[in-house]
Amino acid sequence: MTASVESRILLIIGGGIAAYKALELIRRLRERGVFVRVVMTEAAQRFVTKLSVESLTGNRVYNDLFAPTDDSGMGHIELSRDADLLVVAPATADLLAKMAHGLAGDLASTLLLATDKKILAAPAMNLRMWLHPATQRNISLLQKDGVVFVGPEQGEMACGEYGPGRMSEPADILAAIEHVLAHDTHIPLPAELVRNQEAASLLAGRRMLVTSGPTHEPIDPVRYIANRSSGKQGHAIAAAAAAAGADVVLISGPVALADPAGVKTIHVETARDMLREAEAALPADIFIGVAAVADWRVAETAHTKIKKDQKQTPCLTLVENPDILAAIGQRSKDRPALVVGFAAESEKLEENAHAKLIAKNCDMIVANDISEAAVFGGENNEVVILTKQGKDSFPLMSKQDVAVRLVAKLAAMLGGTSR
Ligand code: CTP
Repeated sequence: MTASVESRILLIIGGGIAAYKALELIRRLRERGVFVRVVMTEAAQRFVTKLSVESLTGNRVYNDLFAPTDDSGMGHIELSRDADLLVVAPATADLLAKMAHGLAGDLASTLLLATDKKILAAPAMNLRMWLHPATQRNISLLQKDGVVFVGPEQGEMACGEYGPGRMSEPADILAAIEHVLAHDTHIPLPAELVRNQEAASLLAGRRMLVTSGPTHEPIDPVRYIANRSSGKQGHAIAAAAAAAGADVVLISGPVALADPAGVKTIHVETARDMLREAEAALPADIFIGVAAVADWRVAETAHTKIKKDQKQTPCLTLVENPDILAAIGQRSKDRPALVVGFAAESEKLEENAHAKLIAKNCDMIVANDISEAAVFGGENNEVVILTKQGKDSFPLMSKQDVAVRLVAKLAAMLGGTSR
């Protein structure tokens, strides 16, 4: 059976910001002629109104466990008996916990306990709540009970954090509904609909060091040498690694970004500070140098402000900064199993990036052509990944998506090594 005129769905809307997407899901189901009855939790009604839901379904919304049977004589328990499938969207951490432990204190949880029908849940919550062992325990209990999950997705959250916990898009939930209705026996959903359930533990037990942002090299107490790096790519990688279960230390130059959730962030200013903190944070399984480290600093920082009234224009003598990536890559003791560099190139992308791979003794170089798009400071990135074994290219995508794909790739490369 696919989601069509004969199908009857009981949709349970939990109380989360993603509840608005449930309206779009109803609209798509109704377009296919599916009969949709809706139960809303108390919290759900803080996010969307019963009136909106009733207008879209053409049916009354149920929310009160103690209300007498409705005008059509529909008793509470019959609500779930009458459906082919129960869909919980958004499935909040609270609703999932009630389902996993058989609590039945309100209409939604009572129906979920009283049913013998299949249940499809689309989780949506803050990433820390999703990654919490209690939620993960509940998910595995529910999976054992036969509950099918769609999502959650990885992405930016309403709270501004980044990671797994975003509810799947209505089109994906619809595809999952059609899949579940079409298969009488339990056949797992296609991988792209469940992708982030495994992503939460890809790097569990691994330690990762990330450098990010520019460095500031002081000239005098008010002036410094810097570059246009925003830190967005490095911070996104640290966030994606933490969301994948890694223990992450982020060594960040001066940036206008919040410290990523669940990441130990150390703030530094100069290249030499960054090197010292990176070495102090070893050992680690992975080191990723994303920072646009200033290649030079002034030989002598002036302790007082350099004044204009000098007879001559000041002449700055520059000396080379330590190369952090090379220092980590070439260590004989405590060298991370994977040392990854970035290469910002404006010409001969692969040739120059390959030279850095060898010179700095890296396992991987992520190369980007900075002449192409507004990479520095921008939201997107298009990268070529070089290893000693070969190369791979990611098309233009958000820096967050680059981070998620890179983390998955590194987890696969580390896969065979011991924890
Ligand atoms: N890097 C570093 N320390 C430095 C310079 C660079 O750790 N002092 C790291 C960067 O974090 C990046 C990689 O080396 O991972 C390459 O940086 P990039 O600026 O592209 O190249 P450079 O080595 O500085 O060489 P050039 O500027 O000549 O291209």
